[in-house]
Amino acid sequence: MTHFMLKEIHEQPDVIRRLLDRSISIEKVDRINILACGTSLNAGLIGQSLFEQVAKIPTQIRSSSESIYAPLIETPNTLTIAITQSGETADTIAALTTVRSKRIAITNGIDSTITKLVDQTIYTNAGEEKSVAATKTFTAQLVVLYQLAFHLANQEAQWLREIPQQIEAILKKNTIAEIAKSLENTRNLIVIGSGINTAIAFEGALKLKEVTYIHAEGCAAGEFLHGPIALLDPQIPTIAIGNVKKTIDRIRVNQNSVIEIPTPAIPELFTPFLTVIPLQLLAYELAILRKIDVDRPRNITKSLTT
Ligand code: M6R
Repeated sequence: MTHFMLKEIHEQPDVIRRLLDRSISIEKVDRINILACGTSLNAGLIGQSLFEQVAKIPTQIRSSSESIYAPLIETPNTLTIAITQSGETADTIAALTTVRSKRIAITNGIDSTITKLVDQTIYTNAGEEKSVAATKTFTAQLVVLYQLAFHLANQEAQWLREIPQQIEAILKKNTIAEIAKSLENTRNLIVIGSGINTAIAFEGALKLKEVTYIHAEGCAAGEFLHGPIALLDPQIPTIAIGNVKKTIDRIRVNQNSVIEIPTPAIPELFTPFLTVIPLQLLAYELAILRKIDVDRPRNITKSLTT
């Protein structure tokens, strides 16, 4: 494949398959704090939903860079989880050094700085990710978070086994090129999702910003009606993930356009693995149409170490 980003998008089914054959175990805790940045923060938001909804453990999440201004509350039995693709992100290293509770890292960075600061490391084993925009490491982080949440709930995350083949089906069918063509000259985009897919709206918007330079805003579908909808005009399309009919109907009343990402036929809790794929592909295809160096977009580096 011509670009690392596309190659890495296509590697996701195999990365996930490999992780499924591994068992993960951690001790019971009564509170979880998550620290991360960027795409890892979006994975963390999904982790927060899982720890609260599946494992019933109160969970707080904060961007590592913000946590120095407002540290998360720790109890004697709190677990802090740092999520970082590289293991070298300066903000997450700084945030971790102020933490007193037990610390776990979820990282792809073998022997990285963060692995030396924590009590336990869970590797995402996604193989080197060369594209600046994270794709396969994001879904690998999700697998680990699902495994942890279900482990803490003493349950099996059985639906994870269905994910690789469902991603393969999406990649094979790939109908994104046509949508990308229709958005080639768009300057602004809104991405909406709800529930566990709100984080995918954020992640889709981040991917679009990073590699297409289109101004893309991720928003919770319900919240979008409380003000941001005022932004819309016929030149600003909305990409809608999942079951957000009420918001879609309100957007269409004024002839504004909505592109719907199909709802996968699996329990909603597991859909983020599948809803993120079309958004990754859309970001890639649009970057190519807009003649952007997709693996090395301007102003960003693979890891922010200062
Ligand atoms: O290596 P990390 O996961 O700690 O990096 C955090 C962010 O800098 C990173 O996710 C960034 O947002 C990527 N360019 C996402 O594609």
